[in-house]
Amino acid sequence: MKYDNAEAERSRAVIDRSLTLELVRVTEAAAMAAAEWRGKGNEKAADAAAVEAMRAEMGRVHIEGRIVIGEGERDEAPMLFIGEEVGAGDGPQVDIAVDPLEGTTLCAKNQPDSICVLAMAERGGLLNAPDVYMHKIAIGAGYPEGLVDLDQSALENVNALAKAKGVPVSEITTCVLDRPRHGQLIDDLRTAGCAVKLISDGDIAGIIHAVNTEDTGIDIYLGSGGAPEGVLAAAALRCIGGQMQGRLILDTDDKRARARKMGITEPDRKYLTNELASGDVLFAATGVTDGSLLRGVRYKTNAIRTDTVVMRSWSQTVRWISAEHRR
Ligand code: FBP
Repeated sequence: MKYDNAEAERSRAVIDRSLTLELVRVTEAAAMAAAEWRGKGNEKAADAAAVEAMRAEMGRVHIEGRIVIGEGERDEAPMLFIGEEVGAGDGPQVDIAVDPLEGTTLCAKNQPDSICVLAMAERGGLLNAPDVYMHKIAIGAGYPEGLVDLDQSALENVNALAKAKGVPVSEITTCVLDRPRHGQLIDDLRTAGCAVKLISDGDIAGIIHAVNTEDTGIDIYLGSGGAPEGVLAAAALRCIGGQMQGRLILDTDDKRARARKMGITEPDRKYLTNELASGDVLFAATGVTDGSLLRGVRYKTNAIRTDTVVMRSWSQTVRWISAEHRR
């Protein structure tokens, strides 16, 4: 479902608001399961635990859900595969994007910022992105649409942002995934005088941080990362504001064919936030390891403590939910 402008988009609440709390239960369950694998050096087991718990809890939610971003195709993923029907089957028809454990390596190494993530949208609201890389750029709210653009160089983007913010470019802080493929980008940003905050994994949180500038000091996210994570980040931005662009990197015949199979007819298209995630959208994330976005799962004598953020695009409400679960 596409809308002409953000205001029109916000005028329709399609997804029952009570589902926000249901999503919290789902990401909490995944986080508690993954937490048992923190620091154990086993990415696969941590991910599998999160997937299983997420799917089980989702089975109790009163929706007719369909996974559009998940663990892969049916033949490579036994659960939460793309196209899988999820939920109790007795509620609204919704599309679901999951990253049951975002930052599997962070969890396996017990490093900051591993989270369990889920987004829900009305049918057709989420880009069915294949598991390829995506070029991404994101900034916070309050700037003219298109101020930064994937078709501009990094230098042009940070200069435009600095000018709009009224600060020298040396006061712009960028966030980039620490990868060899970003070597030139990082050099360019540092040569321009920007600060570069490098993250080792987890660009959903990285993009959210670029929008929450007042809290994080980060002004802009730049670089490439997973396309599924790009769609999930866009779902969050639909709820908290800010602008993002994403372009799939379909640099082989195989990737283009996979994208075509998923309905992508314009391989070079630049997607805006509300083209990655449109209509009524909910987003939830629970911390697994302590991080800059959320605290991780904590064990107390008789309880397990979780911290979750859950957001709704229609109301733009952001709730931070700290819960204690009896052991
Ligand atoms: P996983 O949890 O699947 O390992 O993803 C972590 C992540 O850092 C994402 O946040 C990011 O989009 C992607 O990996 C980047 O991919 P790569 O590690 O191949 O550069």
